Amino acid sequence: MMTKTCQFKAPSVIVNGPGASKETGSFGKGIGKKALIVTDTVLEQKGVLNEIKNSLELAGVAYSVYNKVVNEPTMGYTEEGLKAYKESGADFLIAVGGGSPIDTAKAIAALATNPGRKVTEFLGADKIPNPGSPLIAIPTTAGTGSEVTQFTIITDTDRDVKMLIASPMIMPKVALVDPLLTLSMPQNITMATGLDALTHAIEAYVSVKAHPLTDTLALQAIRIIGANLRQAWSNGDNLEARTNMIIGSLHAGMAFSNASVALVHGMARPIGAYFHVPHGVSNAALLPIVIEFSI
Ligand SMILES: NC(=O)c1ccc[n+]([C@@H]2O[C@H](COP(=O)([O-])OP(=O)(O)OC[C@H]3O[C@@H](n4cnc5c(N)ncnc54)[C@H](O)[C@@H]3O)[C@@H](O)[C@H]2O)c1
Ligand SMILES: [Fe+2]
Repeated sequence: MMTKTCQFKAPSVIVNGPGASKETGSFGKGIGKKALIVTDTVLEQKGVLNEIKNSLELAGVAYSVYNKVVNEPTMGYTEEGLKAYKESGADFLIAVGGGSPIDTAKAIAALATNPGRKVTEFLGADKIPNPGSPLIAIPTTAGTGSEVTQFTIITDTDRDVKMLIASPMIMPKVALVDPLLTLSMPQNITMATGLDALTHAIEAYVSVKAHPLTDTLALQAIRIIGANLRQAWSNGDNLEARTNMIIGSLHAGMAFSNASVALVHGMARPIGAYFHVPHGVSNAALLPIVIEFSI
């Protein structure tokens, strides 16, 4: 029996399935007049943005592109992205990428509507006063789940700290979850990001903040990711496995956004900050050790 009340937060709309990103234009039209697409150069070069740009053009929504996001984003790039956002004249953001572009866009969104603040002032829970600029989040990894979380993780390069910023003010308005965008992921990124998603699900399930809704999502995520990660890794063109993996990551994202993560993520952040190990790899290295220690 539940003895306390529990909250659950998620974007207003989540569209998932092959082709979901083609709806960027129709959602964008309802949100603003001009978008800044926040992404990285690899994705732009691989053509991952092409259908998204087409969809905006068909809907008559203007856009500029900021493609300088770095992996495991640092605070300098959030300031640079904010400058690009202001100079573009855009009134909303579209993040296309893995956790790095989505987290960068969330930080830009918060800085834009909280003038005079620095991203370091947002460190911790509920430190962002005003709701961020509207954000459409489109993941290309499966993944961080950042498209449905109230978190952004930005490295403070002065102190070598990966800052966990948690606030409903940066929850994306719309998440467009399209497995077609993940087909181009190479094997190492498929495995690292898939193990990050699995870690989210396991840690959300064992978290002291878990509740019935998050448990349902976490268990389903563990089932789906367990059954599909090897296939998505060994045959990246397998659309069924890619579709299942991004649905698994979506479940895990909603679970941990509302139930939190635990020791693996807590220890992975300093490893990432000091040694620049990709987030999924540091989680994967710690997960078996933390499970063994915990049971
Ligand atoms: N906000 C959250 O809730 C949350 C949760 C977990 C992790 N994170 C953060 O997310 C970041 C990591 O994100 P990530 O693991 O998704 O990786 P990433 O965004 O850093 O991308 C890693 C590499 O993969 C490439 N890539 C991404 N999608 C691709 C595709 N479809 N095809 C080819 N290449 C592709 C990128 O160009 C990049 O070079 C870390 O900073 C981590 O701390 C955030
Ligand atoms: Fe993670």
